Amino acid sequence: MKILKKILVALLLVLIAMQFYRPDKNSAETDLKTAFLTETNPSAELQNIFESSCFDCHSNTTSYPWYNNIAPVSYWLADHIKDGKKHLNFSEWETYSAKKKDHKLEEVIEMVGEGEMPLQEYTWTHNEAKLSEAQVAAVIDWAKKTRLLYQLGQQPE
Ligand code: HEC
Repeated sequence: MKILKKILVALLLVLIAMQFYRPDKNSAETDLKTAFLTETNPSAELQNIFESSCFDCHSNTTSYPWYNNIAPVSYWLADHIKDGKKHLNFSEWETYSAKKKDHKLEEVIEMVGEGEMPLQEYTWTHNEAKLSEAQVAAVIDWAKKTRLLYQLGQQPE
């Protein structure tokens, strides 16, 4: 019993110590996503979808929930964001080649179509991020049309 108590106290101390280390926030001062928005021309409805369901992990600005102030949750969220941005970052759309943009949109069709995005862990706590069937269809429709533009070379590289 004594050992158990010591372990618990040690764990508590570790947990307290963790609170002093905060991962850097994903909060760019200017994050206009201009290239993405002007090139792919999403409707206002689609922009709302990206804003509430995707940009937290796939852009340079995340709006953080209060529990991000608590470690180790903060580490876990930072990890998701880093990983999400590595795969797809709408804020850096202008740095992608036309071929890469086309491929990323293909992935969007797949991921959203199969219900893999937005991540389930995210929709558990962000109810508004859940996509209805109509919203999924709208995203896929937009992505398909936009892919054609990139394939036909009608958009800047
Ligand atoms: C909570 C964070 C989070 C949210 C919200 C989120 N994603 Fe992701 N996304 C990730 C992570 C992490 C990965 C990489 C790991 C994986 O594939 O599961 C990823 C991967 C992807 C990929 C694959 C890219 C590639 O080339 O491999 C696409 C496409 C994608 N997400 C689109 C979206 C779209 C569209 C939305 C909104 C409808 C969205 N995601 C919402 C975290 C997120």
